[in-house]
Amino acid sequence: MRDINQFTITDAVKESFKTEEGSRFKFLLETLIDHLHDYTREVNLTHEEWMGVLMFLYDCGKISTPERHEFILLSDVLGFSALVDMINTRGGATEGSNLGPFYLDDAPRFDLGGDLGKGRGGAVLLVQGQVRDSLGNPIANAVIDTWQADSAGTYPIQEQASGQDKYDLRGIFTTNENGEYWYTTVLPKPYTVPYDGPVGKLLRAGNRHAWRASHLHYIVRAKGYRAITTEMFFDNTDYLDNDAVFGVRRSLITKLEPVKKTDTLPPTEIAPNARCRFDFVLAPE
Ligand code: BEZ
Ligand code: FE
Repeated sequence: MRDINQFTITDAVKESFKTEEGSRFKFLLETLIDHLHDYTREVNLTHEEWMGVLMFLYDCGKISTPERHEFILLSDVLGFSALVDMINTRGGATEGSNLGPFYLDDAPRFDLGGDLGKGRGGAVLLVQGQVRDSLGNPIANAVIDTWQADSAGTYPIQEQASGQDKYDLRGIFTTNENGEYWYTTVLPKPYTVPYDGPVGKLLRAGNRHAWRASHLHYIVRAKGYRAITTEMFFDNTDYLDNDAVFGVRRSLITKLEPVKKTDTLPPTEIAPNARCRFDFVLAPE
């Protein structure tokens, strides 16, 4: 390896790993090395720039905690998370969108028609829809796991220091025999992704804002189908065209409507004054 130079080094690095022939790991690692080296040669990276990147990654690690994943945020604002969601959306199924950092896998269960937003003020929103397969057949007993921000744009999990319950504004519903679900909650507001760390610095350096269009998060699961992680956006909200983490897709935008006296509504624990509809389509496993 004495005659190594800026062109032969790429193969030398790849060959230094003894990875299993034909394995996915080998493919991922070698392709990554190819692209990183190509990038470095293409931009003629200087020592200062290289050290800047390393210090930026160091700062991301330093600010990260189990509740604050700065690397996920970096992936989000670079569109990397959204790209992985897009690549992994199955034809015919509801498009995937950001998981975000606020999911808890043990949310409380609610009956259909239950209210997630108890006593929080703001508009009472009825969310209703159906879970179907790609042929349009309803899926009974599908599990809908949802979480969201409040009417001030804050997730209760972010406000535990001021006494909020991290399980507020999240819940699990099961679809009925017609694949239907419905519940009430508060209408969330747009909010900013955390921008007090290195990722915030990057956004400011690129003259970007940190706002997300207001949304509801969902993971929908059913036996025999691929689970989907997605978000639903409201048609009247800001940032639909410049969401900080590129989560919006046309197919994920729903119409927010006031409830009219003449509307026929499903039975709910409390009366809504706004409504929206969102159907989920699952592809087979
Ligand atoms: C969220 O939607 O909850 C979120 C997504 C990315 C970064 C921060 C928050
Ligand atoms: Fe969110």
